[in-house]
Amino acid sequence: MRAEIELLALPFEPMCHNLAGHNDNKGGLPMDLVPMGPGFAAELRGVTLSDIASDDAAYAAVRAAFEEHSVLVFRDQEVTDEIQLDFSRRFGPPEVTKIGSQGTGSHFVILSTIGPDGEVVPPDHRLVLRNRANQLWHTDSSFKRVPALTSILSARIIPAHGGETEYVSTRLAFERLDAPMRERLENSFAWHDYAHSRGQIAPDLASPEERAALPPQCWRMVWRNPVNGRGAIYLASHAYAVEGMEPAAGKKLIDELMAFSTAPGTGYMHQWRKGDVVMWDNRATMHRGRPWPSHEARLMIRTTISATEADGANTMRPPSSQAAE
Ligand SMILES: [Fe+2]
Repeated sequence: MRAEIELLALPFEPMCHNLAGHNDNKGGLPMDLVPMGPGFAAELRGVTLSDIASDDAAYAAVRAAFEEHSVLVFRDQEVTDEIQLDFSRRFGPPEVTKIGSQGTGSHFVILSTIGPDGEVVPPDHRLVLRNRANQLWHTDSSFKRVPALTSILSARIIPAHGGETEYVSTRLAFERLDAPMRERLENSFAWHDYAHSRGQIAPDLASPEERAALPPQCWRMVWRNPVNGRGAIYLASHAYAVEGMEPAAGKKLIDELMAFSTAPGTGYMHQWRKGDVVMWDNRATMHRGRPWPSHEARLMIRTTISATEADGANTMRPPSSQAAE
């Protein structure tokens, strides 16, 4: 299997690769992989979320594609909360949604601009401000005690215009760096704080309860994938300081790496259609939402899977904290 998946990872070309030989799910269900972005991101055709939830071989093929391509697109899916959660659980333990988010206490994050009365909320509403925070480049959950392996986002109600999600590969960005910088980052650690990213939109967007529940976290600046050994820059809008560096110099390094990782021409922009599901590797990508006309409704449902030791999470803590755990 490795040899053929390697072939799929070779230069971006708009053609299909048939994965049928890699699985015997549903009696040889054809599963095609269509590269979508500049060196990462792919659409998988011929497979449903339910197939992957129920079939070990289908899951194995999709998991291998996930490790290689970082962003996977599934179109024309019939999605319910139950189907999405069953699919998501295949990849690991689902996060419980934090306080202050719609869906708190459940396994679902509800990204909506629809108020309790069923109407679209006004442009100065807190839900709209939170959407603006999502429009900063980030990776999900780097501000949590347990970082995220993957996020799975399904489109339930989409605006007629805008509202895309844009992705970059921080793995490809890492591989574009020169060797001394790669080595430096592998041995550097950055602090991530939810209040920092929200503070870029409005000073009080992170509530006192959220600040108390989400203390800053320190992570290695490179996440090395245990399956293929490839490193990726691990940063986000939540990152504000580099351990051991003077604050301004650390912030400058973060800003330069963010700009480098999101350079024009390196991204994949996903234009949502109803029935789309996109999953991404939070270890090897950043993403941002794009704006849409504020009077148009948008409802997206996200499930998020925590990273485990098998996903490399244990390599991300500073050595002193690893020793303390
Ligand atoms: Fe996000």
